[in-house]
Amino acid sequence: MENNKRPENMERIVNPELAKRFIDEQIALIRREVGQDKVLLALSGGVDSSVVAALLIKAIGRNLVCVHVNHGLLRKGEPEQVVQVFRHEMNANLVYVDAVDRFLDKLVGVADPEKKRKIIGAEFIRVFEEEARKQTGIKFLAQGTIYPDILESGPVKSHHNVGGLPDDLQFRLVEPIKFLFKDEVRVVGKALGLPDNMVYRQPFPGPGLGVRCVGAITRDRLEAVRESDAILREEFTAAGLEGKVWQYFTIVPDFKSTGVKNNLRSYEWPVVIRAVNTRDAMTATVEEIPYELLKKITARITAEVKWVNRVLYDLTPKPTGTIEWE
Ligand code: XMP
Repeated sequence: MENNKRPENMERIVNPELAKRFIDEQIALIRREVGQDKVLLALSGGVDSSVVAALLIKAIGRNLVCVHVNHGLLRKGEPEQVVQVFRHEMNANLVYVDAVDRFLDKLVGVADPEKKRKIIGAEFIRVFEEEARKQTGIKFLAQGTIYPDILESGPVKSHHNVGGLPDDLQFRLVEPIKFLFKDEVRVVGKALGLPDNMVYRQPFPGPGLGVRCVGAITRDRLEAVRESDAILREEFTAAGLEGKVWQYFTIVPDFKSTGVKNNLRSYEWPVVIRAVNTRDAMTATVEEIPYELLKKITARITAEVKWVNRVLYDLTPKPTGTIEWE
């Protein structure tokens, strides 16, 4: 599996027929390569790992062992959806690891963004390693590497690509979608029967909501991030903006301001809305979200999310702001 160049004659997968052909070819290839051996996969629930999981389930069934690590920084409903789709609907051999306390305890008092990222990445590998050791007969590690990862060979997904495992856990790699571009992965995902909200999901950083709970993460402020993000996504979907805006989410900074709720003064956090469009995430423009929608989202967030009394809209393009706040 050393060849890392997309074959020149490889057709772009642009429709369900081509996706079906790709799926059949990959199933045959995987079966030939893996045989009766077991394959391990870190399944985050993002598009790439979900497509790899669905492909391998079709090829080798329960010889694929999926490990889903819930680090407590996922969006609302995501861990539940992974369990529902893969364990219940696809009959996957899924190990669900509730590591929420482990991650959040390690992050207590850590305000520096890079330290937060490092802790999340290192803890992820540790949890995955522990689960790998509990398994027997694993010979392969599947990864959701896609072609832009190879072209950029950047660190963007470093903690999902479980490259940091110790020597005794070095398995042979299975990377069935490594020559696909993102749009092709989505076409294949759709053909594999994955739900739309998994297939067309907006990009989500590896450290998850952790980089949107600015500064030292606390459980209550993290809940404010998660709940406000869920409201934002719900309203964007209802307004038909889901496929039109590249990335949209909420941030809760680590400061409070005075407000008034139920005729009483409150001292609570603001929620910041970010909604941007970009081609390559190197630069980004701010979306013009209809004012009425912003007002509706503001009303819902201030009414439904605990400990929040204000909603702000981030008008900063990249540069000078990055897309995420950390
Ligand atoms: P920035 O904030 O640098 O983000 O403008 C550009 C894109 O990268 C995503 N991002 C990350 N993705 N791990 C990831 O997998 C990370 O640590 C990380 N930080 C930022 C961000 O969501 C945006 O799409």
